[in-house]
Amino acid sequence: MEKKRILSGVQSTGNLTLGNFLGAINNWVNMQEEYDCYYMIADLHSLTVRNDPETLRENAKKIIALYVAAGLDPEKNNIFVQSHVSAHSELSWILNCYTYMGELSRMTQFKDKSAKHADNINSGLFTYPVLMAADIILYQADLVPVGEDQRQHLELTRDIADRFNKIYGDTFTIPEAYIPKTTARIMGLQNPEAKMSKSATNLNDVIFLNDTPDTIIKKFKKAVTDSDNLVKFDPENKPGVSNLMQIYGAVANKSNEEIEKEFASRGYGDFKMTVAEAVVEKLKPIQAKYNELLSNEDYIRKIYTKGDENARKIANVTLKDVKEKVGLII
Ligand code: TYM
Repeated sequence: MEKKRILSGVQSTGNLTLGNFLGAINNWVNMQEEYDCYYMIADLHSLTVRNDPETLRENAKKIIALYVAAGLDPEKNNIFVQSHVSAHSELSWILNCYTYMGELSRMTQFKDKSAKHADNINSGLFTYPVLMAADIILYQADLVPVGEDQRQHLELTRDIADRFNKIYGDTFTIPEAYIPKTTARIMGLQNPEAKMSKSATNLNDVIFLNDTPDTIIKKFKKAVTDSDNLVKFDPENKPGVSNLMQIYGAVANKSNEEIEKEFASRGYGDFKMTVAEAVVEKLKPIQAKYNELLSNEDYIRKIYTKGDENARKIANVTLKDVKEKVGLII
């Protein structure tokens, strides 16, 4: 039987966080045997905010190094750069003409981002989910492994694909979101009511994947909890402690019941230190491999050159079919 296909990606703005890792990349590693996988660097999406050009370029390479350091085998996965496959931009334009303003206005990420970047509410920010839909359906992806914050974009992708299929006949596979059960929404350490985000203004709210062990320990020590001194999973009433439990559970491979038992008669100080050390241990080999890979530009270029080529082959077949169906001369 043919393997099901997966597509996902990460934007190349800023430094990646523990949220990006636990909500997305870490889960991809477990899928590489069973699925036909395409993972991109979403550099076109990154243009919706202002970036320093050189930093943006460097970041794209850093993410490729991180994908591999986290355990994605470049022989088994197609790792590629979104802007290198022009079919993404082309299909995105066509899909814009099949997406309604009302649908895009309802996207919560658009509302959040326009509030955050009030001085730069560009139309790319508005049509961002259409490009994301193009990314996915160009590959006829069956599954899209992402964190909870992308669920709404996935639903829109399904609607656009379905609308197109209804007009022109079967063209696109309708993709499913593949959202992890426990780490779909890693929250901030200072404000556990909001997701951990790379653009947080309080750096203590976020663990960056390239934070040193000392910094990681300091940030966890300062993490906001509550005054019960009881390690119990209860996201509604104990968001800080529950978030730390999810992080610990994911990096140490433990269930909430096991964690509750482990800390039944121990205080928060002890708990936070254990979580911090487990995160440090999990990230240590990844950081070492990442630093080693970063110094090998040729290897990184080889990875994406091969990935780009494989991606183009599939994307161009879909794009040609779409162009024919909508009435463009081929
Ligand atoms: P981005 O770059 O914001 O995030 C990359 C991935 O990390 C997940 N994530 C989180 N998961 C759990 N907890 C958090 N605090 C957290 N923060 C981020 C995101 O859900 C995502 O899976 N538009 C996408 C990139 C993209 C894409 C695509 C993804 C472009 N095209 C096609 C899938 C398919 C984005 O901005 O992700």
